[in-house]
Amino acid sequence: MPLVVAIDGPSGSGKSSTARGVASRLGLDFLDTGAMYRAVTWLALHLGVDRTDTDAVAALVSGATFDISVDPRSPRIAINGHDVTRAIREPEVSAAVSSVATNLAVREHLVAEQQRMIRAAERGIVAEGRDITTVVAPDADVRVLLVADPAARVARRQAELGGEVDQAAVTDQVIRRDRDDSTVARFTEAAPGVTVIDSTEQSLAQVIEAICALAP
Ligand code: DC
Repeated sequence: MPLVVAIDGPSGSGKSSTARGVASRLGLDFLDTGAMYRAVTWLALHLGVDRTDTDAVAALVSGATFDISVDPRSPRIAINGHDVTRAIREPEVSAAVSSVATNLAVREHLVAEQQRMIRAAERGIVAEGRDITTVVAPDADVRVLLVADPAARVARRQAELGGEVDQAAVTDQVIRRDRDDSTVARFTEAAPGVTVIDSTEQSLAQVIEAICALAP
């Protein structure tokens, strides 16, 4: 059976870089599930759909088609034919994504889509998000919860966004998003059988190494 590695964690924990590094190292595909929630959010903003209208957003996602590159060296995502790889990282999408990610109909649809992609990954896959170890792939061969102190997560997010962003605004964004997101996915504590790795004092290479060492 192809290897499945599941990684969950809050924003700024280093999940994406870590998951991509593990996938490259082990020759596996890579799936950023947060990018799918972001793409739906982008589509709702693009079409002017009210994000608090849960039925309208649910209808949007059930009619949507995704085109996702699972190559860890060049992740790409398109929704309904729009390549949104860059656009989904814009602040408007980041600010709005929790309202889409807390829509249970959206979650049900995206979880099914993610499970289909994991089953289709013939060479194995590293999937990262908030509910991979618990809901999407609870039977994964390797299950990791990546954590880091809030200050370290804020600093990383700030570095990702570039030097000129306001620290208070980033802190608010990171902490508020965790609070909103944790209402639907329990990623603040590890489920039974999930290995917790704290990246606060570790380099990216060390964390990648630690996860690869868990692979059978
Ligand atoms: O990891 P990220 O910041 O790109 O995630 C974007 C949003 O999607 C964030 O609000 C959490 C949510 N998300 C989720 O609820 N479940 C997932 N499996 C992945 C992301």
